[in-house]
Parts: sequence; structure tokens; C-alpha cells
Amino acid sequence: MSLFRRRGKLPPPDSVPRHIAIVMDGNGRWASRRGLPRAAGHAAGAETFRRIATHCRDIGVGYLTVYAFSTENWKRPEDEVSQIFSLLEKYLAEAAEKMERDKIRLRILGDTSVLSSKLRRMIADTELISSQYTGFQANICVNYGARDEILRAAESFVRAGDAPTEEAFSAALYSGGIPDPDLLIRPGGETRLSNFLLWQLAYAELYFTDILWPDFTPDDLNRAVAAYNGRTRRFGGI
Ligand code: IPE
Ligand code: IPE
Ligand code: MG
Repeated sequence: MSLFRRRGKLPPPDSVPRHIAIVMDGNGRWASRRGLPRAAGHAAGAETFRRIATHCRDIGVGYLTVYAFSTENWKRPEDEVSQIFSLLEKYLAEAAEKMERDKIRLRILGDTSVLSSKLRRMIADTELISSQYTGFQANICVNYGARDEILRAAESFVRAGDAPTEEAFSAALYSGGIPDPDLLIRPGGETRLSNFLLWQLAYAELYFTDILWPDFTPDDLNRAVAAYNGRTRRFGGI
């Protein structure tokens, strides 16, 4: 039973982070431990994403940003990469069908220019149609790398001959318009950022757990939120 529900209530709205970021890691190991192909782990991970996104929406989180495919993940075998992109297509097709019910605004962050034209069209359609939902936003990072994101933003200022302010620089990132994450969760046992949101996580609280992403439950998310609530955020003050 959930940590919060055990106390008979959902977390009070003011204790819920406005923005949670998650490195969805551990799919491959989850599958290997079951003697399954790695793709089965990615499929299970996609289901977990669906459950966690709904849960975040229900407890009053404003933004959820997940790392689905990094600029470094192209190093993987071609068949694994194509299975991951097939899953993304499947997810977007289903999201489009369930949009009216789920009321989730979707955004894809990353360099989508190299994706298939079919996938790019699906992304554009889903982003456009779901932009009417303003209660909860899920951002899926695809072909995302923080260094790539920062370089592109820097190049845009060089091209314009402008000196950026911190605010203008933030706005030029893929995540422009989205507030910085308050809490970063990395399941899967690794304690590194792997090129995720290097600019935006400057003052996020970091939470690591050995649970593999496909096993990560809404209760695990509540535990991370409870840990977040036990932290003192000083932002450099006293
Ligand atoms: C995360 O799970 C998903 C992607 C990086 C696409 P992994 O595939 O990295 O799973 P592990 O870390 O090998 O277990
Ligand atoms: C980070 O996981 C990227 C995603 C979850 C999409 P990786 O499995 O690629 O990270 P490393 O290689 O262990 O750092
Ligand atoms: Mg991994």
C-alpha cells in the first residue's frame, strides 16, 4: 500500500514537486534477469512510464520529464535501437487515441530531425493536439543529450550576435518554457546523470534507487517524493 495512502490521504499538494525528472534505466537488466530479450524490458519500461505518468498527474505534479533515448544510445546494436523507436511509435499512437481520456500534454525534447518522417509527423500531431491540456505535461527526451542541447542554444546566440542572459539561455534549450526539475529520480542502480538535463538540474534534489525501471511503482514514486520532502533546499542561502 502506498506510503501516502497508508496515512489515508494523498500527499498534500504543497509537498508535491512541481517538476519531476526520471532517468528510466534498468530495462535491459530487468529483461536479462528473466531470460527475456532486452526489447521485452523496454516494452515493460514503456508500461511503467504510462503508470507513473498517470500517477504523477493524479497527485498534482505539474511536469514529468523522462529520459527515453540519449544521443549516446545510438552505440547500441541496430536491432535494439529500432525496437526502442518502434515502441515510441506504438506509445504515440496509443497516446493519441487516449488523449481525451488522459488529458496529458506531451512534448518530445531532443534532436528529432534524424527520426523517420512518420515518427516526426506523429510527434508533431501529438504535441499539437495535446497542447490544449494544461493541467499536466509529460516530456519525453528522445535523441536527447544535454551537451548537444547546450551547444545548440549557444550557437543560436552566436548566430544572432547576442549575449545570452541566464533566462534567455534557458528559453533557448529544448526545455524552453518548462520550469527546472525539483526532483531527479534515477532507478536502475547507477548514480550518474548520463548527459541528462545538465543545465536544468543545477538545483534539483537527486534520488537514486536500485529498483529497475520496469519494477518501479507509484509507491516507489511516493517514497521518492517523501524523501524529497525531507530535504532542505537552500539554493545557496542559509
Ligand atoms: C534504459 O534501460 C533504456 C534506455 C537507455 C533506452 P537500459 O536499456 O539502459 O537498461 P540497462 O541499464 O541495460 O539495464
Ligand atoms: C541513460 O541510460 C539514458 C536513458 C535512460 C535513456 P544509459 O543506460 O544509456 O546510461 P549509461 O550508459 O549507463 O550511463
Ligand atoms: Mg542503462
